[in-house]
Parts: sequence; C-alpha cells; structure tokens
Amino acid sequence: MSWATVSARGAARWAAGHPWIYRSDVVSNPDAPGIVPVRDNRGKFLGQALCSPRSEIRLRLLERSDAPISPAWWQAQFERCRERRQTIDANAWRAVHAEGDGLPALIVDRYDRWLVVQLLSAALETQRGPIIDALRATFHPDGILFRHDVPTRKLEGLDDTVELAWGNVPERVEVREGDVRWFAAPWTGQKTGAFLDQRDNRLLMGGLVPAGGSALDCFAYHGSFALHLARRAGAVAALDVSQEALARGAENAALNGVTNIEWIGGDAFDVLAEWGKDGRRFDVVVVDPPAFAKSKAHVAAALRGYHEINRRAMHLVAPGGWLLTASCSFHVPRPQFLEMVARAAAGTGRRFTLHRILGPGVDHPEVITIPETGYLKGVILRAD
Ligand SMILES: C[S@@+](CC[C@H](N)C(=O)[O-])C[C@H]1O[C@@H](n2cnc3c(N)ncnc32)[C@H](O)[C@@H]1O
Repeated sequence: MSWATVSARGAARWAAGHPWIYRSDVVSNPDAPGIVPVRDNRGKFLGQALCSPRSEIRLRLLERSDAPISPAWWQAQFERCRERRQTIDANAWRAVHAEGDGLPALIVDRYDRWLVVQLLSAALETQRGPIIDALRATFHPDGILFRHDVPTRKLEGLDDTVELAWGNVPERVEVREGDVRWFAAPWTGQKTGAFLDQRDNRLLMGGLVPAGGSALDCFAYHGSFALHLARRAGAVAALDVSQEALARGAENAALNGVTNIEWIGGDAFDVLAEWGKDGRRFDVVVVDPPAFAKSKAHVAAALRGYHEINRRAMHLVAPGGWLLTASCSFHVPRPQFLEMVARAAAGTGRRFTLHRILGPGVDHPEVITIPETGYLKGVILRAD
C-alpha cells in the first residue's frame, strides 16, 4: 500500500480540525493522485486523505478511520448531508459543501431534480464512478452535470470542461425559494447556475421592505433578491453588469407575475456614484458583489473596492432604511469585513446601527476551525 507521511506540523493541523496539509508538511506521498492512508513520521496512522501530487494542498483529510472508501461509504456521507438540509424551504440547495460537510473539494448543488457537481481535486477524479453511483442512490436525480469550468481545477492539473455525467440536464430549471420562483441556468449560469448561499438572507430581506417602499438590488444577477423585495416594495431597481443575467431576471419577473422591477445594466460603482449625486434614496439597499479578492495577494485592493462600493451604497439608504451588505471572498475574514463596513459608515457622517450579522444557510456549513468554509459574510444595518 502506498502511504503518505506527514511532518509533526502537518499532523498538528489535522489534530486542530483543519483538513488540509500543504506540500511543505508532507514528507512523502505517492506519485499518482488517489485516496491514500496517512501516517506521521513515527508511523502512527492518522487517517485517509485525498492526495493531489501536483497541488500545493497535497492532502485533504477524508476519513479518520481505516474504513474502506467504497460506494457505500460515499452514500452514507451523502445521506448525512441530506439529513441536515431537511428544513430548507426551497427545491434548490447545496447538497454537499466540500470541507464544510467533511467532503473536501466536492461541491454538489441540487436544482429540483438535477444535480450540478464540481470535483475540485485530482484525487476526487479517481472517484468519479463511485461518487456518481452514490449521488444517484441518495438523491435519485434525473441528471447530473459536471460544471468543471473553474480555475481551481487548473491548479490540480485537471481540465475545465462542462459535461453531462449522467441522464439529462435541461438548459434551465425552475427553482422555488419561499414564495418566489426563478430560473437557474445549470449549464451556463454563474457558479453552478445560481447563488444558493444567500437564500436565507433573501427571505429575510423580503420581510424588511416597507409596504410600497423602494428597494435597490445591487449586483442583482438574475434578481434573486429583487424578486423577494418586489413582493412588498412599490418599486425595485435591479442592477448588474451581466446582460445575460438581467435577461433571465426579466423572465423571472414574468414567472412571478411581477411588474415593479426595473432591470438596469451597468457598472455598480458608476451607477451608485451617479445616483448619489442625484440624491436618490431607497428604503432597502442590497449590496452583494462578486468576490473582489481572488487570492491573498488581492486582499488590500479588494478591501478598498468593498469600502468604496459600501460608502456609495450607504449614501443611497433613506433615513430609517435598511442596508444588507455582503462579501463572498474567503480571503477576507469576517472581522476585516466588519471593520471595513464601520470605516465606510464613518465616512458618510451618518449613523448606522447593526441589525444582524449574516452568514450562509444551513446548506453551506461553516466549520469554525476551517476559515475557508466561512467565505460568505454580511451584515444588515439600519440608517438613522
Ligand atoms: C455574488 S453575485 C450576486 C448574486 C445575487 N445577489 C443573488 O443572490 O443571486 C455578483 C453579481 O455581480 C455582478 N457584477 C460583477 N461586477 C459588477 C459590476 N462592476 N457592476 C455591476 N454588477 C457586477 C455579476 O454579474 C454577478 O451577477
């Protein structure tokens, strides 16, 4: 059997609850990717890991015991994931959240009867067959799609193709989320077709809009916040740079019989600055930008971007109004995000009070010892 051997520092990471062991803490590992037993440098068995010989993240802890990683093992893991998501009031959710669910590098999003999957490690690729069989046995989907068009696959020496893994997957899927419905685009949409992580926050914001009030959904994608806001608001502005997303947004509005959303194409930085000058105000503003920090090297620039967009958004919040602001950069930790929001508020000369600190829903579990699982953070503020 081909073992991997890790240094004391590597072993200490696992003991402290983080599943990754970097190249520099691996004494030896097999040449080929796969699932390997791991021992420390005194020969003590530590567990089984996904081993990616070309990646900086060389080992990812999969199982602490020596139980065989069989199709039945995968199915037991997926059943456990399914169990914890039973309270979700929607037909789309993240079914497997990688490290957050103890299944490193594996993303599975469920859109009604279809699954969209990402295998983000070379070792997981060796498990394609068992994973597909176990997903079918657990979720009984009509089809499974690989959305492998993500840059992290390149770091593992893997291709970036979008391919049907099994059955059929339609171009778009109707999703129900609370009382709102929208179309996800599994083959071509951003991420795996939609942003499932903000579901709870969308439901929450829908309830904060004053009846007949005004709302702005900034970085709206296909309007998933806007549709919730539109149920009580008199008028909603939904702003995004992607025409494709906005076109689907308009279809989503029609699907819900909603006519009070204006779809606006443009760069949020420019539009918000212009509206600030014009003195426009909204009772609710949502700011849900893309990840500005794609790597650790970009954190300082990202924080400047977050600060600027938040400063501009805060000017647009009417007295007594609400602001939800979020970041999905896992390189920006929650304390730094909160500090940035406070600085942006200070710069406006207005008083904002903290209503809620937000994270993702139960389908994106954030493990307290794995900061990378807590990529989505946000706050709801109220303007005086
Ligand atoms: C995190 S997603 C928003 C998700 C959305 N709020 C939801 O709940 O489905 C970020 C969105 O910002 C858009 N975007 C990126 N840069 C932008 C910019 N400079 N101005 C406006 N929109 C932008 C992307 O097209 C994408 O739809």
